Amino acid sequence: MESAASIAQGTEDESWDGSRQPRDARVAELSIILPSFNEAKNIPILVGLLDKALASIAWEAIVVDDNSPDGTTEVARSIAETDPRIRVIRRIGRRGLSGACIEGILSSSAPYVAVMDADLQHDESLLPKMFEAIKSDETDLVVASRKVAGGTVGEGLSAIRAWGSNIANGLAQKLLNVTLSDPMSGFFMVRRDKAEALASRLSPQGFKILLDLVSSANGTLNIKELPFTFRERQHGESKLDTLVTLDYFGLLLSKYFGDIVSTRFLMFGLVGASGLFVHLLALRFFLLGGLEFNIAQTAASFVAMTSNFFLNNQLTYRDRRLSGFRALIGLLTFYAVCSVGVLANVGVANLIYADPAYWWLAGTAGAVMGAVWNYAASSALTWRKS
Ligand code: GDD
Ligand code: MN
Repeated sequence: MESAASIAQGTEDESWDGSRQPRDARVAELSIILPSFNEAKNIPILVGLLDKALASIAWEAIVVDDNSPDGTTEVARSIAETDPRIRVIRRIGRRGLSGACIEGILSSSAPYVAVMDADLQHDESLLPKMFEAIKSDETDLVVASRKVAGGTVGEGLSAIRAWGSNIANGLAQKLLNVTLSDPMSGFFMVRRDKAEALASRLSPQGFKILLDLVSSANGTLNIKELPFTFRERQHGESKLDTLVTLDYFGLLLSKYFGDIVSTRFLMFGLVGASGLFVHLLALRFFLLGGLEFNIAQTAASFVAMTSNFFLNNQLTYRDRRLSGFRALIGLLTFYAVCSVGVLANVGVANLIYADPAYWWLAGTAGAVMGAVWNYAASSALTWRKS
């Protein structure tokens, strides 16, 4: 029998030295990451446009699809069957634009990667210029910007979205010292080794991978901006909603505090705070309804835990969202986790409450202990990675 070591090393005949690659295959210099959710109609059009725009570049496109119900994966695969430049990653049980982009980048072996929306809103004719810029000088990151001279939001953003986008930009610049003109852009090209070095610090949630990348790099990236016009969407619809916006502020805050607390823990804490409000409201309601205090207090706790569960499921664990039967199981484990959390809370508070003058310290320490426990246990149990 062959030893593991000899298999790993291979013999001279067996080991892959690259010399036998098919003559017509070119090693990709540029990977274009196309995150997609329900873009079945757009993918074939986009591949056609990329083919025209990138004639002089050895490129590949990596479609990272989150198991779209409209069959985007199947459509992309059918193209990949005859076109080796197209690759597909199908993610199951996960959702999120940033996470999809990160996985796409990590699956590439090309020296340069671009991230681009798969819905035709990003102008593919800019890619050769971005490629030229990133190859020529010391540039690590080229951002396609709608805000730099010559670029426009075009018809692509509604007035309200454009307004919100300006506020978010301003905040990013003030809080994080990010000097990008368009930190919310989802269209950029980066040296893969630079992105890979930062990957473990990036948050897989939300939409703001560029802002995350630049603020995590802490000024170490050489950045260039090129103008472009954001096109209007023709097929399908936008997935950016209010919850995604909340997530953006979570990212701003956690980056502002130097990543001491993760965006997720911050969200979890905010949801917990909202739970206190819900609890008091429910308690008042049950008491008015004539329930005895202990029973009313217990019932109110369940109302608050239930509300916390659903909010966390939509916000904090958006990318691992549970639905159907799994949501029910999740809710039950969440009750269990929180009950132990109460014990941890009271236990710690009791330890510290030796001196009644420090009641507030004891109370706060107990609450923090409970929150940390609930967070750790629920992320391991209720929203465990599938
Ligand atoms: N895999 C995956 N998973 N892809 C997703 C997900 C997801 O959960 N959500 C969205 N996408 C894909 C879409 O299919 C599309 O290709 C791209 O990400 C952008 O999503 P849209 O829903 O079209 O976003 P938008 O047009 O509203 O927002 C664009 O503009 C923002 C600034 O205004 C994007 O470019 C954002 O990145 C950008 O910040
Ligand atoms: Mn879009």
